[in-house]
Amino acid sequence: MTNPAPKNGQIIVDVADGVLTLTMDNVSKKNAISREMYLAMKDALDAAATDTSIRAVLLRGAGGVFSSGNDVAGFGAPNGEVPAPVQFVKSLVKFPKPIVAQVEGLAVGIGVTMLLHCDIIYAADDTKFRMPFVNLGVVPEAGSSFLVPRLMGAAKAAELILLGRLFSAAEAETLGLISGVLPQADVAGAAEDAAAALVKQPMGAMMKSRALMRDVNGDEMDARIEREFKLFYEGLQGPEFAEASRAFMEKREPDFSKITV
Ligand code: COA
Repeated sequence: MTNPAPKNGQIIVDVADGVLTLTMDNVSKKNAISREMYLAMKDALDAAATDTSIRAVLLRGAGGVFSSGNDVAGFGAPNGEVPAPVQFVKSLVKFPKPIVAQVEGLAVGIGVTMLLHCDIIYAADDTKFRMPFVNLGVVPEAGSSFLVPRLMGAAKAAELILLGRLFSAAEAETLGLISGVLPQADVAGAAEDAAAALVKQPMGAMMKSRALMRDVNGDEMDARIEREFKLFYEGLQGPEFAEASRAFMEKREPDFSKITV
């Protein structure tokens, strides 16, 4: 008999042939990411950053879903702790080795914004993407307020972030958010092949090339991430988030009409 996954979900960590595979496993919540899961991913990335036997990372979700984002029921942080999402994002942003993402089913919230810090991203053709930060009464995080407008232009970024509308894998590819769209049955294989190919590349040239492609925003990116999370956590204390999360739990449309700023 297999043990059921713990209530707060888990990260399955696997190392084989130079690839660290991190699988978000919280299937009953569509792989919502709990504090424990953020910290497990952060610890695995921090260790892999200096472990010379690991040359690439593969990031994916269990059960045919990437992630529904932050666990809506567990946004808070224990007193005195840097919130787990902030710790995870900082480790992800500074991670020096290539990351492949295998995206299926759903990519929502940080399930989208973490992709901005991955390198080769393959998505199943039926994946639905969404950045519902404003809809929840908070602001986009993980550097996305900086990176998304630069990636796709201000007008498209405004549509996807201010409206928080769903977008398809085909649109994500057109916008440059992902590397390619594949039939569902082929995504895992393509992601594994990409990770295996990265492992064979010369590490020095690859890490330097990756840093060159990313490092233009260095300090500015860190400052932006701090600013975003400050506003994000302020938002969590406010009436807009309170209404949005109540509505989510009660499975109804939120009503922001009586909330003024
Ligand atoms: N946090 C906590 N629980 C979540 C969750 C999340 N981010 N996303 C989904 N769940 C839970 C649902 O509450 C539901 O639980 P239940 O079975 O006890 O009712 C279960 O996962 C299945 O979700 P459901 O909404 O029935 O699936 P769906 O396919 O109809 O919709 C989503 C999937 C992801 C579009 C929808 O669940 C959603 O909008 N989730 C919230 C996403 C979000 O706001 N993330 C944070 C961004 S900052």
